[in-house]
Amino acid sequence: MTTVNVRFPAPKDGHLTPQMKQTWDANGVLLLEGFKSEAECDALTERARHMASEADLTNAGIFASAQAAAERDEYFRASGDTVRCFLEEEAIDDNGSLLVDPVEAINKIGHAMHDLDPVFDAFSHSAKLAALAKDLGLKDARVLQSMFIFKPPRIGGEVLWHQDGTYLYTEPQSVIGFWFALDDASKENGCLWAIPGGHGETLRTRFVREGDGFVTWALDGTEFDIANSIALPARKGDMVVLHGRLPHASEYNRSDRSRHAYTLHVVDGACDYPENNWLQRHDDMPLRGFER
Ligand code: FE2
Repeated sequence: MTTVNVRFPAPKDGHLTPQMKQTWDANGVLLLEGFKSEAECDALTERARHMASEADLTNAGIFASAQAAAERDEYFRASGDTVRCFLEEEAIDDNGSLLVDPVEAINKIGHAMHDLDPVFDAFSHSAKLAALAKDLGLKDARVLQSMFIFKPPRIGGEVLWHQDGTYLYTEPQSVIGFWFALDDASKENGCLWAIPGGHGETLRTRFVREGDGFVTWALDGTEFDIANSIALPARKGDMVVLHGRLPHASEYNRSDRSRHAYTLHVVDGACDYPENNWLQRHDDMPLRGFER
């Protein structure tokens, strides 16, 4: 069994100590305890639940059928610079009817709340985050994507092993994921898992636009070394930093507790951003840094 310590009390000013930096370079993952306050976490969750309660789920059924792949692709494709809700697979029956309370049916909200909603904007921008991004090696940090993940009790879906660089690719590769625990996350309610050091390997796949849809390009068929994975249980307010090639995953939430989390994905503005990445913004909404 792998024993790797990647946990540190969050630096108050966001700057990494030499030991944190060394751990980051060696493992491609850090868990910074208490990065956000409980009050900040609660404000974000309350805002997301409000957005979910107001979401129009009348077309929820279209996401249930295979014939609706085109609509589903279009809904996803247009979410890069908007705010959209995505449903849990287990929240709808074969006819597309909701099986649970609408607020409990939503898997996530994405992908530009950090620019479009004041509460998310406040959570997502600070001198502390800017300092952290700089110390992680981003010369010109640009916040590309935000996701609020509900992982509701009993039906919260699993996220299969992947590298974030698959979805958000730059040349050279630069994406880093900031994952904030908004509830306590344990193995029971679907905490993160990661393979320390896996960032040193190749990017396995790229998910790209092709015509009106999307395809996944295989770059390297080597399987992830899951035997060396570790669980990353987190307390509310902790933040996990994930290198863009670090393999990570999370399991179903079969518990009675929710597992809310918020992620930001950040790229270096100095790198090339390909036009076949799934996430494309309109020109009138340029990417911002972490400064408020
Ligand atoms: Fe991810």
